[in-house]
Amino acid sequence: MSFSSVLASDAARIEARLMAALAGRRDVPVVQAMRYALRGGKRLRGFMVLESARMLGGVDAISAAAAVESLHAYSLVHDDLPSMDDDDLRRGQPTVHVKWDEATAVLAGDALQTLAFELLADPALGSGDVRIALVAGLARASGAEGMVLGQALDIAAETATTPLTLEAITDLQAGKTGALIRWSAEAGAVIAGADPAPLRAYATAVGLAFQIWDDVLDVEGDATKAGKRLQKDADAGKATFVSLLGLAEAKARAHALVAEAESHLRAYGASAGNLIALARFVVARES
Ligand code: IPE
Ligand code: IPE
Ligand code: MG
Ligand code: MG
Ligand code: MG
Repeated sequence: MSFSSVLASDAARIEARLMAALAGRRDVPVVQAMRYALRGGKRLRGFMVLESARMLGGVDAISAAAAVESLHAYSLVHDDLPSMDDDDLRRGQPTVHVKWDEATAVLAGDALQTLAFELLADPALGSGDVRIALVAGLARASGAEGMVLGQALDIAAETATTPLTLEAITDLQAGKTGALIRWSAEAGAVIAGADPAPLRAYATAVGLAFQIWDDVLDVEGDATKAGKRLQKDADAGKATFVSLLGLAEAKARAHALVAEAESHLRAYGASAGNLIALARFVVARES
């Protein structure tokens, strides 16, 4: 099967798992907003969870894949708020605070975050120890030493008086985007009871390449294809690889990181094919 068909079929399974998790919940605006925020998206983090578990011979990791996509959806709802990036379009649709209101967006984000941990408690993922390791890992990756830290550094950089150094931008992006992507690849190893080190190294490189490409798309992407507003980072004073190095050098770094990511999975041979295809997709995508 081609990469795009595997991605499409994994994405459909993930969306079905997310909708099943919310089935039968009370029909109130906050739950409607959660469903809305969960729909669409490329599902790259969920794909990493499913494919890393599959590569290592673990059980079906669908609930863990759905968990990281719920956590990610929460981070996007809050990222788009007027007090953060102030965006009105996401995945080609009005953002949650535009369609409903800010209070609903804050609360839907909160509930998407806790839904992630509810999904990780699913006994189908393995023993209590496995599930506790997944929960602790995702909590660390998304909190004040992971995604939240990165988002805080991203917002702080908007009003910094001197440009961030390359090291500081790398640190910011490792938190903001890298931490969830690292957790996604490592989750497969946790579920399969395998060594997480090669997947961690792979995902560290992919995560950075992913955010560099997001920043490249902000400068030269097509907003209709991306489904979100572009050409905003520079005016907002965002610190990115593109702002520091320019487009050509930023792209070269992203491609070098993908080659590095591939090298970390060489020992797995053909079974790493889907994860390697994902890394290549990250720096070829238009959305
Ligand atoms: C967008 O992530 C936010 C960043 C971390 C840059 P994605 O590009 O993975 O968004 P979706 O889930 O496919 O919409
Ligand atoms: C968002 O990064 C990262 C998180 C949501 C954690 P961006 O602000 O660059 O993402 P987009 O460009 O709005 O998708
Ligand atoms: Mg942001
Ligand atoms: Mg944003
Ligand atoms: Mg961006």
